[in-house]
Amino acid sequence: MKFNNFKQTIGNTHPASAFLAFSFFVLFILVGGGCQKNKNEEPKPDTIFVLPTPQKPNVPFFFQSFYKEPADNPNTIEGVALGKALFFDKILSDDNTVACASCHNPEKAFTDGIPLAIGIQGKTGRRNTPGLFNIAIQKKFFWDGRDTSLEQQSLHPIQDPNEMALNLNKMVEKLKANANYPKMFGRAFGTTSITPDRVAKALAQFERTLFSQNSKYDLYLKQLYNPTAEELKGMQLFFQHPDPFAPTPIRGGNCGDCHLQSTLFGKPDAFFGFHNNGLTELNASDIGLQKVTGKGSDFGKFKTPGLRNIALTAPYMHDGRFQTLEQVLDHYNSDDIFTKPKVDPLIQLGTNERFGESLKLTANEKTAIIAFLHMLTDSTAIKFNP
Ligand code: HEC
Ligand code: HEC
Repeated sequence: MKFNNFKQTIGNTHPASAFLAFSFFVLFILVGGGCQKNKNEEPKPDTIFVLPTPQKPNVPFFFQSFYKEPADNPNTIEGVALGKALFFDKILSDDNTVACASCHNPEKAFTDGIPLAIGIQGKTGRRNTPGLFNIAIQKKFFWDGRDTSLEQQSLHPIQDPNEMALNLNKMVEKLKANANYPKMFGRAFGTTSITPDRVAKALAQFERTLFSQNSKYDLYLKQLYNPTAEELKGMQLFFQHPDPFAPTPIRGGNCGDCHLQSTLFGKPDAFFGFHNNGLTELNASDIGLQKVTGKGSDFGKFKTPGLRNIALTAPYMHDGRFQTLEQVLDHYNSDDIFTKPKVDPLIQLGTNERFGESLKLTANEKTAIIAFLHMLTDSTAIKFNP
């Protein structure tokens, strides 16, 4: 590069400046000795050397201990911009009909409003589309936790025959041929060379910015909102483990045993946050975590989802079987839940009646818990301009 320009410069200039230039040349050789061996590796003309600008997303204080960026993929302004463009672009599907956002629609808190996801050419998948808010604080991905990083996860829907069905080599060719993407990769990664790894990294960076933190519940955690009496009652019931034997019986919905305090996700480490909440019959085709670990004790366990924006993400559960939050509450309160195959002990130990054989919430208590679940809606986060 500079070396070639330099020779040209000498040819066209006054002897004095040529001498000066020559001195620089000597200095250049001395100081940049390493350049000598790189002489044959001329950078390609389309390579961009400007480094991207690091920028951590705005992580709410109650999530900060969970937030981590991989050392080889720190969030940058340019990387997020690229990831966002890719996320909303149908170019990532074989026939240009499906984008990530087709199923993960921001207005529905990154879900699609249907029980089972529908991908390319109307093909139906086997599971419900999960929301993506606060995904950056998770460690296991998919309902059965089979992936362990967002980078690893993002190439799966692209190749999945029921989702985007795009071969990764073809993906790279399509992106290379696009008028904008080579430049955007250049800005994001310092090189215009497009690889599946960089596509995955950019998508992951964008997903790490998706925090929802202005629901009434978040504002309450930030001490900026006073819940109504009903919201407060619902919140208390949600987190309370019932104890009908206490001197003054303690009533509770038992939900917080699994949906934890600030995240409302399950426990982040290992598969602790995976539970069987009584949905899976012995002959079910989808047995959840057991398929991943091979352990019979993991039968019917699924990831405990975070509940932020839950009022926007119907239908519910890994197979989208419940249309409303009322139906979800009826499930947890149903008379036969304690006897479901391998149902979690945390469910079996939660009853509001002495020797009760189910949760035994009253109608009013269910309504109050639903009021709390509506407190989790963040109408600011879903406003998204692709
Ligand atoms: C056809 C609909 C569809 C498309 C397109 C799609 N997804 Fe998904 N996504 C799903 C479904 C369904 C699941 C759950 C699958 C499972 O658990 O087996 C999921 C799961 C995820 C998860 C894990 C969420 C969690 O809570 O563990 C992430 C992250 C994700 N998708 C990101 C993406 C990205 C990035 C793209 C684009 C490259 C994409 N998805 C394209 C339907 C879709
Ligand atoms: C034993 C642990 C456990 C308890 C207790 C529990 N949940 Fe869940 N919850 C889960 C799991 C696991 C899932 C996902 C199950 C699936 O899809 O197969 C889930 C799913 C949900 C969903 C649907 C989420 C979605 O994105 O589709 C809602 C809503 C919910 N729970 C609310 C509650 C409420 C309200 C309570 C208390 C009445 C409660 N949960 C008690 C573990 C639990």
